[in-house]
Amino acid sequence: MNVSLVEEKISKRTKAIVPVHFTGYMTNMPELIKIAEKNNLPIIEDACQSILGSINNINAGNWGITGAFSLHPLKNINVWSDGGIIVTNDKKIDTELRLLRNHGLINRDSVEILGYNSRLDTIQAIVGNWILPKAKSISEERILNANFLDSKLSKIKAIKIPPRPKNYRLVYHLYIVFAEQRDELLNYCIDQGIEAKIHYPIPMYLQKGVSFLNHKKGDYPVTDKHCNEIITFPCDQHLDKEQLEYICKTVKNFYESEI
Ligand SMILES: Cc1ncc(COP(=O)(O)O)c(C=O)c1O
Repeated sequence: MNVSLVEEKISKRTKAIVPVHFTGYMTNMPELIKIAEKNNLPIIEDACQSILGSINNINAGNWGITGAFSLHPLKNINVWSDGGIIVTNDKKIDTELRLLRNHGLINRDSVEILGYNSRLDTIQAIVGNWILPKAKSISEERILNANFLDSKLSKIKAIKIPPRPKNYRLVYHLYIVFAEQRDELLNYCIDQGIEAKIHYPIPMYLQKGVSFLNHKKGDYPVTDKHCNEIITFPCDQHLDKEQLEYICKTVKNFYESEI
C-alpha cells in the first residue's frame, strides 16, 4: 500500500483501512496509524504473509484493532489444510469473533448472533500448536536465506533488490526482486530446475472477479511496472546453502550468456 495515497481515497463510506503486508514486507504502519487516527478509522491488518514481521520492533498484527494470519500450507507457518488466526486486544471484538466462528452460539442452546462454521478442526489445531513455537526459527532461517540471496544477486547489474529499511523486519514469505528480461529469466530458471514464479502475473485490479469496479489497464501504473519486472525465487527454511548458491549461479549464467 502506498500510504501517501490513502487519505485522498477516504470517503464518507469508508469504514476501515485494510493494509496488506504483502510478501513479509509490512505497510508503513507508523504513517498509516496517523492517517487512521486523524480520520477516526480502525485498521484491520492483513498480516497473512507477514507473521513476525515488524516495524520499530512492533509486530505485524499488533498495530491495528485486529490482525489476520493465514495458516494455509504455503504460508511461513502452516497447518495441513486451511486455517488462520486473528489477534486483537479488544475485548468486544474478541467476544464477537468467538461467537461468529461457532454459529453465534453462546452456549449449547442459545444463538446470540448469526455466525459461521469457522472452527479450526482438531487435526489442524494439533499441527498448528506444533508449528507455532517454530515460527521464530522459521522466520530467522528465511531472513538468513534472503540476506544470502541479496548479497549475491545485488552484484548482478540486471537485478534490482527492493529497499530493505533498517527499522523493518522483513520475513520473506516471498523473496522478490526486479529483473531485466524477466520472462526469459523466468523460463531459463524453470528449465534449470528452479521453482521461480511471478507473484502475481495478473494484478488484482484486472481480475475478472472485480470487473464490476470498472478498472481499465493502465489505471495502476506502478502495479503494472512491478508485474512486468518482478520475479520470485525460493528462499524458504528448507533450502540449503548449495541450493541458494545454485539459484544465484543460474541467474548470473543467464545474463552472462545473454551478452
Ligand atoms: C495477503 C493474503 N491475505 C489473505 C490470504 C487468505 O488466507 P487464507 O487462504 O488462509 O484465507 C492470503 C493467502 O493466500 C494472503 O496471502
